[in-house]
Amino acid sequence: MRPSNQLNNWFNHIKQNNTGALITMMNKLILIAAVSNDGSIGNDNGLLFKIRDDMRNFRETTIGNHVIMGRKTWESLGRIPLPKRFNHIVTNNSNLQACKTVSVANLNKTLANIKIMGTYSDLNVYVIGGGEIYNQTIDLADELIITHVDSNKTGDVKFPTIDMNKWIEEVGCRKYIQQDQWNECSATIKHYIKLRK
Ligand SMILES: NC(=O)c1ccc[n+]([C@@H]2O[C@H](COP(=O)([O-])OP(=O)(O)OC[C@H]3O[C@@H](n4cnc5c(N)ncnc54)[C@H](OP(=O)(O)O)[C@@H]3O)[C@@H](O)[C@H]2O)c1
Repeated sequence: MRPSNQLNNWFNHIKQNNTGALITMMNKLILIAAVSNDGSIGNDNGLLFKIRDDMRNFRETTIGNHVIMGRKTWESLGRIPLPKRFNHIVTNNSNLQACKTVSVANLNKTLANIKIMGTYSDLNVYVIGGGEIYNQTIDLADELIITHVDSNKTGDVKFPTIDMNKWIEEVGCRKYIQQDQWNECSATIKHYIKLRK
């Protein structure tokens, strides 16, 4: 069974046994990403763009909450935890060394650990990349926060296709970023909400 199917089964199992409770405990699961015109998010294990106002929005949005990232994204950040957030690194390598304040586990275990911690809090859970982790969590997510960067740069990692039969843009949430000396491209930040059928 593919890991994403296993994850879906696990997630549905929890939902069936605890209708509504998981969402309350975990609050929302939100994917946050900056995406170029062709859906690229990174190249050579680095970001494609430098957009200061998007970084500020990312910081302000995620601070005080959980952030989940893949092992490669963790390495791209220089193996330094994002301050003032609960950092969770997803890996299959049980020997991966990180500082004590960071949790290290596979994706299922990471989500289960956050659920247990969530019993005592109502923090949001932000999936902050990269491509592999976005791919495996988009079907579980409640919201997407996507910075659509006006750039034709292409990379070796892409964000999964956003199926507009499943998502709707939240009205009144758009933010616009102008290109200037600090923002290498203009961009639009949009919030999408999962359509519940
Ligand atoms: N534009 C943006 O918003 C944005 C945001 C974040 C990252 N990025 C970019 O995205 C790129 C990195 O993305 P990526 O897809 O190559 O890597 P990634 O998703 O960051 O990490 C992949 C790694 O995560 C681990 N992993 C994946 N699924 C797992 C599972 N179910 N259980 C346990 N471990 C699992 C594996 O680590 P092990 O090999 O250790 O087992 C895998 O090699 C970089 O270029 C980065 O700059 C862009």
